[in-house]
Amino acid sequence: MSSAAVTTTQKSLKYQLKSVEKVPVKIWGDSNDASIHIARSIALAIRQKQQEGEQIVLGLATGSSPIGVYKELVRMHREEDLSFSNVITFNLDEYYPMKPKAQQSYVYFMNEYLFDHIDIDPKNINIPDGTIGMEEVEEYCRQYEEKIDLVGGIDIQLLGIGRTGHIGFNEPGSWRDSTTRLVRLDGITRRDAIKDFGTAEAVPYRAITMGIASIMKARTVYLMAWGQHKAEILQKAIEGPISMTIPSTFLQEHPNVKVIVDKAAATELTRIKTPWLIGMCNWNDDLMCQAVIWLSQKTGKSILLLTDNDYNEHHLSDLIIEYKSSYELNIKVHNQLQDTITGWPGGKPNANDSRRPERATPAKKRIIIFSPHPDDDVISMGGTFLRLVEQGHDVHVAYQTSGNIAVHDYDALRYIEWMQEFGATYDLLKEDKKDLFAKAAKILRAKQNSQKNSLEVRQIKGMIRRGEARAGARFCGLKDSQIHFLDMPFYETGTTRKKPLGKADVQIIKDLITEIKPHQVYAAGDLADPHGTHRVCLNAIFEAFTALQNEKWMKDCWLWLYRGAWHEWPVHEIEMAVPLSPMELYKKRRAIFMHQSQKDTPPFPGNDEREFWERAEDRNKATAAQYRALGLSQYEAIEAFRRWKF
Ligand code: F6R
Repeated sequence: MSSAAVTTTQKSLKYQLKSVEKVPVKIWGDSNDASIHIARSIALAIRQKQQEGEQIVLGLATGSSPIGVYKELVRMHREEDLSFSNVITFNLDEYYPMKPKAQQSYVYFMNEYLFDHIDIDPKNINIPDGTIGMEEVEEYCRQYEEKIDLVGGIDIQLLGIGRTGHIGFNEPGSWRDSTTRLVRLDGITRRDAIKDFGTAEAVPYRAITMGIASIMKARTVYLMAWGQHKAEILQKAIEGPISMTIPSTFLQEHPNVKVIVDKAAATELTRIKTPWLIGMCNWNDDLMCQAVIWLSQKTGKSILLLTDNDYNEHHLSDLIIEYKSSYELNIKVHNQLQDTITGWPGGKPNANDSRRPERATPAKKRIIIFSPHPDDDVISMGGTFLRLVEQGHDVHVAYQTSGNIAVHDYDALRYIEWMQEFGATYDLLKEDKKDLFAKAAKILRAKQNSQKNSLEVRQIKGMIRRGEARAGARFCGLKDSQIHFLDMPFYETGTTRKKPLGKADVQIIKDLITEIKPHQVYAAGDLADPHGTHRVCLNAIFEAFTALQNEKWMKDCWLWLYRGAWHEWPVHEIEMAVPLSPMELYKKRRAIFMHQSQKDTPPFPGNDEREFWERAEDRNKATAAQYRALGLSQYEAIEAFRRWKF
């Protein structure tokens, strides 16, 4: 395509984008860079107001979305003299009832991530009070609203978006003209909050929140969304009709809203998912493959049955012009998908590997499977794990974190009591161990679910998870010397909020990679999970790879990413598909069953009621069904991987 044609294409795409996306959206490669961009815009506004001798009013959010912004603001305060002396803040919301000292309170959150580290005048901080009596709430909310108006209104409002489409705690059903008030939390929002409160029962039913009208009065609004789990609701908020069933759609009427998202959160936007529906595309092989798979799914026909007419009727006639005919296009994509399928994830010895996902040599590879939590290895790639061992590779598994907060207190107590009784019966326990068990038992008996796990409790829970992980890895055929527990320090907080990735974390990963010098590394590629453990664990591996990139042996080291329990790679992104027979799938299930503390109702089930083994099977079967529907062979299940190239 000539450059003039490309420019016209891009212009027309930009023009048509406006009719699809009803608010300006900027997509960033990664949530860190995006957060830094927002923080810098805020800092600029603070400094401008300082020069004018004026105050600035910020509307602040909590939750995982703004953490990166606060981190950068704190850094700028420490390293670049950014002062907050002229800043007044109003937080969007607070649970009700809620004591400010409780770990789950938004007061605690704001102090931890921002206020304790900057020079803001405490008198300028406003957060809805979760302790006031029910009879006073209405008047309190009226005054909160009045206070915002009295200081001249909010200059910059930060927002996250909930999976219900809420902004603040304005849940579906919120009116456009709602102001600060007491609200009931949606069931989905309460389920999402279990990770902070420990149990469903502990999550409050209510909250005080600024209203839609309060938010709409802000002069500038930043809506942030990171991660795949936000993709679906974000698409509705940006492209859907304005409706109180998705309160964030009201932002479409705001004159100065900026939506800032990362790639994962943008995946459902039309311009990413089906850009050919918006206008002309700059075609390349990846986009072509995505379009053909979409067309096949849309028409319900396998790829080789797609006709010129199908392409023409679905906005894809360009593709036929670009690739000559549907016949050639179909064969190209069909073969490409066929080449992803292999029963030899470690490479097939003595075979021509030019069209295979992995190299044939060396026939016996050294392999590390990194597992962020102690059960991700078997949940996400148990079938492939079993195969790699059976096919004679030197497989090591490395459990990156202890996973020690995800054991129920009652399970930990049961183990301790057994140990105490067993130890006493055979007089086996040394004094220090007796003390540890007695102390941990005492703490557990008095502990509320939502309380932080003490060091003693974490030690016990960590041992439980180690035992399960060992059993799972052994079931897959590993010797004890091939099982590594890395206990990365960032995880060891005793709560769901983790420390940022540190040098010590990366060093641990580097040391193991240097020791094994692997040909293959498998890692959890949950780019979708910006602040969660999986993402931190992946960043540690990326940093280790970068630090080791000049080592000669690293040239032979390939990194394969698997996805965690919830999402699979979309088919057009899969580069290695490992089919599982019904028996292999059953064996994988048994490996997952070794993780007894995670069975039935695990402490952190996320927003999915199925058990982990059910999610894994459903997902692997769904991938196989998709391959089948596209016209490839029928398999019971498929595990999928994508190669990460630096
Ligand atoms: C928080 C708030 C909520 C969150 C939303 C997204 O003050 O009002 O609307 O912004 O629930 O939460 P995260 O960012 O944790 O995904």
